[in-house]
Amino acid sequence: MQSNRSPEQLLEQYRHVSVIGVGLIGMSWTSLFLARGLHVRVYDPRPDLEAAVHKGVEQAAPTLNALGLPTQNLLQRLKIVQDPEAAVEGADLVQESGPENLPMKQEIWGRIGRKASPQALLLSSSSTFGATDISRNMPDARRMLIGHPFNPPYLVPLVEVVPGERTDPAAVAEAVAFYTALGKKPIALHKEIAGFVANRLQAVIFGEAIHLVTQGVVTVDELDDVMTSSIGLRWAVTGILQSFHCGGGAGGMKHFLEHIGPPFERIWRESGTARLDEATIAFVSNQATEKFGTNFQEMGTLRDRKQIAILKTLREAAQPQAASR
Ligand SMILES: NC(=O)c1ccc[n+]([C@@H]2O[C@H](COP(=O)([O-])OP(=O)(O)OC[C@H]3O[C@@H](n4cnc5c(N)ncnc54)[C@H](O)[C@@H]3O)[C@@H](O)[C@H]2O)c1
Repeated sequence: MQSNRSPEQLLEQYRHVSVIGVGLIGMSWTSLFLARGLHVRVYDPRPDLEAAVHKGVEQAAPTLNALGLPTQNLLQRLKIVQDPEAAVEGADLVQESGPENLPMKQEIWGRIGRKASPQALLLSSSSTFGATDISRNMPDARRMLIGHPFNPPYLVPLVEVVPGERTDPAAVAEAVAFYTALGKKPIALHKEIAGFVANRLQAVIFGEAIHLVTQGVVTVDELDDVMTSSIGLRWAVTGILQSFHCGGGAGGMKHFLEHIGPPFERIWRESGTARLDEATIAFVSNQATEKFGTNFQEMGTLRDRKQIAILKTLREAAQPQAASR
């Protein structure tokens, strides 16, 4: 799926983008698109839209700078509009990031579909709903698909590109080419599945984490320390399957599955099923507030700084000269 156009040519081709829904994720996409030199039109019914976007872009600037992107005069290429039709008219690409609510997404996409250019690339940030369901109200969904980022999209590389039943394979290739030009790591899924891959994996671990915390095995911060000082670090390098392939020694994955697989199977059978009832929500969120605090801006800044350090170190370690040092 390699494009024969340079990143500059691709960003020129998709110069005019539209962001529909400017909460946490739409704001982050907007900041990245602006820093990559694109012209961005935004729509969101929130009454504080203009002030919120200006603040969001300002807050993203240090991280964008640390990624080597320019952050001067970003707001000059930003336009705030009053309805989704005005946002998508003439746009080369739409990145919808409205609420994770299927009827709302279907309504939004029905409106986008009536006004967007037939050549525009139409992407939804949805974390769980597929393009097949979201595009129900669109007469033509050939260019509509999922471009699911990880929070914050201006920093975390992955974008899951997921076509629906009516998506043209050419649109998948275009989305992959566009996100690559943007500096992202797009992975196109071969099949549509609710929650896609990354969130399905997270959901399983999240459920077990809630189970372990509510059972009193560890506190929320201890559980996160277990993650960040072992599997989190490992998975940033080799992922889960290659890690276990290496964990089998010379026998690789086959030996690992035959040797350590059966105890894992027992744990799968015994894993807790988390229920988000009122008591569980209160217990876990009170502990999170107590252990992590509520200074989200400070936590976000530190998170971004550490993630940039990891990305930079991984890039350097992948250079051939690093291996021969
Ligand atoms: N939060 C995450 O970690 C994350 C990660 C990846 C993808 N996503 C996906 O991104 C999307 C947005 O999530 P979020 O976390 O930014 O939510 P959010 O609640 O922060 O933002 C949603 C925004 O949509 C706006 N909105 C409400 N009605 C609208 C309408 N009719 N048209 C356009 N906008 C409307 C709201 O005013 C709000 O600003 C969801 O589909 C979500 O699943 C979220």
